[in-house]
Amino acid sequence: MKDVTVREFDAQDNEADREQLLAAFLDIWNAEENLRFLSFTLRPFEKDIVRGWLESHKDQGGRFLCAVEENGRVIGICIAKIDPVEGFEIHGLGVRPGFKRRGIGRNLLERTIDLAAGLGFKSLDAAVFADNPAMLRLLLSLDFLPVGMDFRKRADGADILRLRRRL
Ligand SMILES: CC(C)(COP(=O)(O)OP(=O)(O)OC[C@H]1O[C@@H](n2cnc3c(N)ncnc32)[C@H](O)[C@@H]1OP(=O)(O)O)[C@@H](O)C(=O)NCCC(=O)NCCS
Repeated sequence: MKDVTVREFDAQDNEADREQLLAAFLDIWNAEENLRFLSFTLRPFEKDIVRGWLESHKDQGGRFLCAVEENGRVIGICIAKIDPVEGFEIHGLGVRPGFKRRGIGRNLLERTIDLAAGLGFKSLDAAVFADNPAMLRLLLSLDFLPVGMDFRKRADGADILRLRRRL
């Protein structure tokens, strides 16, 4: 991961972070090869809706860790959803097409695990569509274990596998 740094974006209170993250999120989440692994509806994410999420993400417990190239381009995003009662969940992970298999997804997940541990959580959860072997392999290699399934959650009927990593 030469020349790539990971930092947290504050899209709620920092306008530059918000605009950069909005553009990157739409590029990455709506990319044809990514969308079916990130969308329950299989419909692209709309700019105005995503902007609304970003404007209040901290109020909802959302945290954004981003992999950033030296030139400032965001090439990977991991979203954590933190609730002091419900727990710590990985809400989404996406890497820009053309930048996969370079360790970016693993690095973002490792940083997110560190964040959960640093906040004193004893476990963190992830949910993955069952037809996503790349993410499943990545999570299993980081010691996440299956804890349950939700059936027919995506528009085309795909199931969701829930996994948990103990800390
Ligand atoms: C899943 C995803 C985030 C992985 O990111 P990445 O940066 O390419 O992953 P890494 O380079 O860190 O790979 C780590 C490990 O993941 C697994 N992996 C990643 N891509 C894989 C693929 N295409 N096929 C099989 N295993 C894969 C491998 O175990 C890999 O380790 P290895 O390279 O030593 O074999 C990326 O493919 C992506 O953005 N996919 C679309 C969105 C998505 O599925 N998000 C998850 C939603 S829950």
